[in-house]
Amino acid sequence: MGNAWFETVVEAQRRARRRLPRSVYSALLAGSERGASYRDNMAAFAELGFAPHVADLSAKRDQETTVMGQSVSLPVIISPTGVQAVHPDGEVAVARAAAARGTAMGLSSFASKPVEEVVAANSRTFFQMYWMGSKDWMVRRMERAREAGAAGLIVTLDWSFSHGRDWGSPWIPERLDLRAMARLAPQALSRPAWLAEYARSRRLPDLTVPNLAEPGEPAPTFFGAYGEWMQTPPPTWDDIAWMRRRWDGPFMLKGICRVDDARRAVDAGVTAISVSNHGGNNLDGTPAPIRVLPSVVAAVGDQVEVLMDGGVRRGGDVVKALALGARAVMIGRAYLWGLAAGGQAGVENVLDILRGGIDSALLGLGRSSIHDLTPDDVLVPEGFTRTLGAAPGPDPR
Ligand SMILES: Cc1cc2nc3c(=O)[nH]c(=O)nc-3n(C[C@H](O)[C@H](O)[C@H](O)COP(=O)(O)O)c2cc1C
Repeated sequence: MGNAWFETVVEAQRRARRRLPRSVYSALLAGSERGASYRDNMAAFAELGFAPHVADLSAKRDQETTVMGQSVSLPVIISPTGVQAVHPDGEVAVARAAAARGTAMGLSSFASKPVEEVVAANSRTFFQMYWMGSKDWMVRRMERAREAGAAGLIVTLDWSFSHGRDWGSPWIPERLDLRAMARLAPQALSRPAWLAEYARSRRLPDLTVPNLAEPGEPAPTFFGAYGEWMQTPPPTWDDIAWMRRRWDGPFMLKGICRVDDARRAVDAGVTAISVSNHGGNNLDGTPAPIRVLPSVVAAVGDQVEVLMDGGVRRGGDVVKALALGARAVMIGRAYLWGLAAGGQAGVENVLDILRGGIDSALLGLGRSSIHDLTPDDVLVPEGFTRTLGAAPGPDPR
């Protein structure tokens, strides 16, 4: 057996590709339409440079911070992802890895594991919801998360049901019945390590979403719940303010990329926002979050916690985001690749890579703490930033 440890997130992705059945891998890769946003999320980080020092560097570097009242040992938390069939331990393995590395976990309402099990594995769990179903139904979801001990709520708003992608979408069955298994068998059989993992767990992926079950009822299927979501009229800002009032704890709005929306989020009373384009999976053509981050921070950074997510693959990316004003970042695919490559240990490996990369960048920049980073630490090429939803004015940088 080869070395289980991997040295970059890109290597974790290569291993995930080799290990997962094709349709599971491409569900994780996701993206939307022509993939412009998906690619820009990563390309934008590569456009940013560093301005390093060579002496008077700090022998000790501090990465601790807090996110929505939870202390975290590095400025990276787990972004919620609703994916199935990656690993039998699913989000519980991710939660354990995050807990082992001292950070927080966002749990999707479309996840494969119940919130009670995930909170038991990591008390710093934020439960994520979409605007779906009736208000009564949403209140029941919030009450369940609160009773389970969730430390906060993440409400994701940036989804407009864009389903096509030029490279094709995987076929995913509603249920894994015999017919579906027969159709998926060739790709599953070509991935013996993945299959063996599920064989050991004595469970097949069941493609249901336990956090969306009604009390006493079986969990709906992923697609059944998705259909209900599609039929729910989208929320107004008043609806969001209502939701915020119904959750008496830390509350994040995820998916903001415009200055005017960031201000509305502040008016709705949120604790935090994440500047995000859903990992480039939604409205293609939305700029990379790192490009719009400075304008959002300039507008509301002194009123709410501003996080960002999208395209983070290395510690240096995290440092760039923090230098441009983010309090912390959330990661999606990076930990999914780790989970696929090595379960809990794979996710820990990814968090270790990011921690190491953050430390290295802090050392090179001569900073003793993430809290000392400033825009001067990064080289921002002309024309890099975008400002959406604000009257044109001086560059907020
Ligand atoms: C396969 C997949 C499923 C996702 N599911 C959800 C979800 O259920 N809820 C949510 O808020 N965001 C979801 N996201 C978005 C992530 O939380 C995050 O915004 C995005 O992955 C960040 O980009 P990155 O993958 O480049 O780190 C999903 C992303 C991926 C790749």
